[in-house]
Amino acid sequence: MTQLKPIIAIDGPAGSGKSTIAKRIAKKCDLFYIDTGAMYRALALKAKHLGIDPENNVAIVKISKNINIELKYEAASSKLTVFLDGKDVSEEIRKPSITEHVSTIAKIKEVREQMVLLQRKMAEGKNAILEGRDITTVVFPDAYKKFYLDADPEERIKRRFLELKDKKIAVDEAIVQKDITFRDKTDSTREHAPLKRAQDAIYIDTTHLSIDEVVCRVLKEIQKKP
Ligand code: CDP
Repeated sequence: MTQLKPIIAIDGPAGSGKSTIAKRIAKKCDLFYIDTGAMYRALALKAKHLGIDPENNVAIVKISKNINIELKYEAASSKLTVFLDGKDVSEEIRKPSITEHVSTIAKIKEVREQMVLLQRKMAEGKNAILEGRDITTVVFPDAYKKFYLDADPEERIKRRFLELKDKKIAVDEAIVQKDITFRDKTDSTREHAPLKRAQDAIYIDTTHLSIDEVVCRVLKEIQKKP
């Protein structure tokens, strides 16, 4: 891995605030923002378009090797656009019908290897901030600064429910609860690159913190000498 520019890595479960915080920090520090979850989501969407069962590992691995994912972040509007094979899929990948399958495909070792390659390539030569489930442990374990964001499950469920409502994606709070509980378990117990707190990652419990307070803490840590 040749990475000479500083990387900021953030991990944590769904609803812990990773994307919101990473976007703000990207804007403030002029960093290239990489939402790695969006990449797994794009793959899940491609599988759906092709009618592939998320449990069909062989077929999923095959499409993961021939996928074109691009991320474009506009700091001024805080908008991330996700392109799958040249098409804007930013909204489609957030739908519950995709969310429910993404952890299943993210368990596959070869899929992860493929995604890690893409993520490192995207970050190459850039000052970048990446967020996901394995950034501090696998993708960039030697990142300049590493964070693990967390929050109580009830708070994370509430945040995600409000976020989807805000995006006008119709969903029941009970469905959000089921999804987050399922993904928490699947992502943290899978065999390959499970979500876990790296010992040297800065842990921030965001349950009772505002977005500005978390941004402030993260910025302070980034400005400290390593
Ligand atoms: O935004 P949210 O936290 O709900 O999820 P996401 O970051 O969009 O990630 C969706 C799913 O992709 C996660 O639940 C994981 O199963 C998988 N993922 C992963 O395995 N590794 C990553 N680095 C990022 C996401």
